[in-house]
Amino acid sequence: MTTFKALVISEAPEKHYAKTITTRQISDLPAGEVLVKVHYSGLNYKDALSSVGNRGVTKSYPHTPGIDAAGVVEESQHPDFQNGMNVIVTSYDLGMNTSGGLAQYIRVPASWVVPLPESMSLKEAMIFGTAGLTAGMGVSLLENHGLKPQNGKVLVTGATGGVGIMAIGILAKLGYQVVAVTGKPEATDFLLKAGAIEVLSREALDDQSGRPVLKSQYAGVIDTVGGNILATALKSLNYGAAAAICGLVASPNFQTSVFPFILRGNAIFGIDSAECPMEIRSKIWQKLASAWKPNNLEDLVTEIPLEDVPQQLEKMLQGGAWGKTLVRL
Ligand SMILES: NC(=O)c1ccc[n+]([C@@H]2O[C@H](COP(=O)([O-])OP(=O)(O)OC[C@H]3O[C@@H](n4cnc5c(N)ncnc54)[C@H](OP(=O)(O)O)[C@@H]3O)[C@@H](O)[C@H]2O)c1
Repeated sequence: MTTFKALVISEAPEKHYAKTITTRQISDLPAGEVLVKVHYSGLNYKDALSSVGNRGVTKSYPHTPGIDAAGVVEESQHPDFQNGMNVIVTSYDLGMNTSGGLAQYIRVPASWVVPLPESMSLKEAMIFGTAGLTAGMGVSLLENHGLKPQNGKVLVTGATGGVGIMAIGILAKLGYQVVAVTGKPEATDFLLKAGAIEVLSREALDDQSGRPVLKSQYAGVIDTVGGNILATALKSLNYGAAAAICGLVASPNFQTSVFPFILRGNAIFGIDSAECPMEIRSKIWQKLASAWKPNNLEDLVTEIPLEDVPQQLEKMLQGGAWGKTLVRL
């Protein structure tokens, strides 16, 4: 019987959750049409939440998290996928209530599987991961709304996070002037090398004036944090510009008024990468594999073995991680 290594989160006394690298069996995996031998995974904030018992992400334990995986098909009951094919699986229910990618094997429905685009390696796919897909969806929403490099600066919040750093890389590759917002002044050089032209502190985006709108400064915003940073960014948009929002690390709530919308014709677009339809998902992956692939992609990532994942998840929960974390299986 084939066994494999996996991160397993289990409930321990006093609402504590233990993270251990465990040997599991293929027969433990859920039913599904495609068995994938995972070569790389990557870390996302949702994995960190799953690792500490967040019931909004994972309902029952023991559980293997990991919303991202890239690898090779080892068994398939679906005509679209043959043994030996390179594939990407991200989001849907992977790593939430379905055994996830922080393991050497996953078994999933064929409808979750994306063939790896040509000119993208398995490693590159997981440097992007859900963070890259999410950032790509944000860029796509803003460009469909009319954003162009000549419109002006684009703000990216939570800049050193996975989504933030991917948004900076993609926007810079497309010729945008990116302004990064971070809580880590020591990451300034890293963010400038990633492609930002300017780095602001979180405090610079924490307007407490009560004014309905502020000076117009940004042609677009990709927000990963919510809260007052998002509220301030919205008040600072240029006429007709939009924000694409995906996250809540600062707060799920933000206070706004109708004024940015009725005085400046601004818009907010929500990003949901988890249930993103396959047609859109495939198009974004194709772009990430070609015109949107940052030249410095490998500089945006730290590669770690599965054994180092528990420690890195803790760091993410404390907001201390830098850039994207790639996991080698
Ligand atoms: N909707 C979707 O489809 C989707 C997909 C992926 C992720 N998300 C969400 O997007 C968010 C970011 O995900 P991620 O994977 O990029 O997470 P991550 O790698 O942990 O990065 C989050 C970043 O947010 C900043 N941050 C942390 N605590 C903060 C606070 N209290 N106030 C303001 N900023 C803070 C930090 O960057 P700085 O220190 O540089 O500020 C941190 O590196 C999460 O809320 C996640 O759930 C949503």
